[in-house]
Amino acid sequence: MKYFVTTAIDYTNAAPHIGHAYEKILADVIIRYRRTQGPAFLLIGVDQHGQKVQQAAQKENIAPADFAERVTAQFLSLWERLNIQRDGWAATTDPRHKRAVQKVLQALQDKGELYKAKYSGYYSVRQEQFLTDKERNAEGEFGPEWGEVVLLEEENWYFRLAKHKDWLQNFVRTHPDFVTPAFRQVELLNAIERLSGDLCVSRPRERLSWGIEFPFDHEYVTYVWFDALLNYVTFAGYEADPGSNLPDFADLWPCRAHVIGKDIMVPAHGIYWPIMLHAMGFPDDQMPRLTVHGWWNVEGAKMSKSLGNVVDPAQLADQYGADALRYYLMRDIATGHDADFSIERLLIRYHSDLANGLGNLVNRTINMVQRYHSGLVKKSNTNDPELEAIKAAAGLVLNRYHEAFVQFQPHAALEAVSDLVTQANGLVELKAPWKLAKEPAQSDLLQDVLYTLAETSRLVAALMEPVIPNSAAKILEQLNAADYRELVWGKLPAEHRLGEPTPVFPRFDDR
Ligand code: MSP
Repeated sequence: MKYFVTTAIDYTNAAPHIGHAYEKILADVIIRYRRTQGPAFLLIGVDQHGQKVQQAAQKENIAPADFAERVTAQFLSLWERLNIQRDGWAATTDPRHKRAVQKVLQALQDKGELYKAKYSGYYSVRQEQFLTDKERNAEGEFGPEWGEVVLLEEENWYFRLAKHKDWLQNFVRTHPDFVTPAFRQVELLNAIERLSGDLCVSRPRERLSWGIEFPFDHEYVTYVWFDALLNYVTFAGYEADPGSNLPDFADLWPCRAHVIGKDIMVPAHGIYWPIMLHAMGFPDDQMPRLTVHGWWNVEGAKMSKSLGNVVDPAQLADQYGADALRYYLMRDIATGHDADFSIERLLIRYHSDLANGLGNLVNRTINMVQRYHSGLVKKSNTNDPELEAIKAAAGLVLNRYHEAFVQFQPHAALEAVSDLVTQANGLVELKAPWKLAKEPAQSDLLQDVLYTLAETSRLVAALMEPVIPNSAAKILEQLNAADYRELVWGKLPAEHRLGEPTPVFPRFDDR
């Protein structure tokens, strides 16, 4: 069984921005960590149907399929650029997904979970949903967030959501780990409390043609959220036809973390999705878990095209390297909370933690080993208390690191690793190997100091690998330790030849 992680599938109505990049990097870091523990599988993808894509295509006078394909290519190239190691790719126009969605709709219809009804009311074109009085603001109006609102009467297909409210309430109450971080679970319970009414899961074809056709009523296509949410199971092999080349569903499900933003927990992932699965016959022990992250803002404001403050991750990766961006986006936010994006902070983090911290430790370690021991580290077992203290500190750091990953908090894992780097850099000052090198009586101690520094460098590089894979691989290469990646102390052989030092984190202010 593989540790299965997914992210939200990104809308293909506009180019990717830093928020999309953050989420994919977060999931990629989690999965790279998981791969150090056992088999793991990351599914990411694109949400290609729906009114927003149809409208964006109309504006350019091109077919929605062409529009979606063009934006999809932008996402794919960004994920390559940022080293997102995906195992599966969920694109909702994939015929395998469409067929599986139709099978689910048919099964729900056969079970009596769907019905057709006429509804008349106010409809938000932007949000693609009917509005009720709950959506009116203090002035009794539908605010600007809903965009154009029109009066519409329509016959549609509905999914019996309300019928499962008690089940969901009970499930969430009895599974406090359903949502991470915990404070979001409280928010979800409050939202479930307010749940009333069923979910409209179709759109008449005459109004929206860009969607998956209803298998038993050809005048309708599937509501984009219903289609999109199902990607998590269809691309994991659920209801797949033989020879589909999709994973074995039993090997992946249940998903251990749907990594999503706070804006799509309620109602989509916290209400519609578990109820859909429950109605499809998934037992409680087959329910997925949600990892809900916060938002990156820019100078305290939401990123938006109209404010002109949208940050382009591809450009940043070109300028500073994918690892610098990945490190900053993982280090400067706590999963679940919001953070403020700034290039200044990115550079501060890069220079202080990577160039001065990790880079400096590795570089001076290899240099000293070259200078004093012709590149050979050798363990002497002097049991020096200050060296023992580093070993003990590494043990504590490892505990903090694993615990942080269990909680989906890479920033806390990185903080723990940084503490170890600081301590090791402190050891260099404390032991002053350049002095020990002048005293023949201290040669055993010098050997052990250098071994401790080399082993700390190795361990730290291995611990950082999920976040900065390229740089960590370069460091391990220089330590000649690509085969020693285990996350435990003492894996560097007692006698080991290091490679040549080359700075891994060039400073940006020098250029
Ligand atoms: N297509 C839907 C998701 C369907 S999942 C079955 C969608 N797409 S989206 O492109 O609008 O957003 C994709 C993800 O990016 C969401 O999880 C969203 O929360 C996240 N983010 C969008 N802007 C963001 C920030 N500024 N910061 C962090 N994450 C952000 O919603």
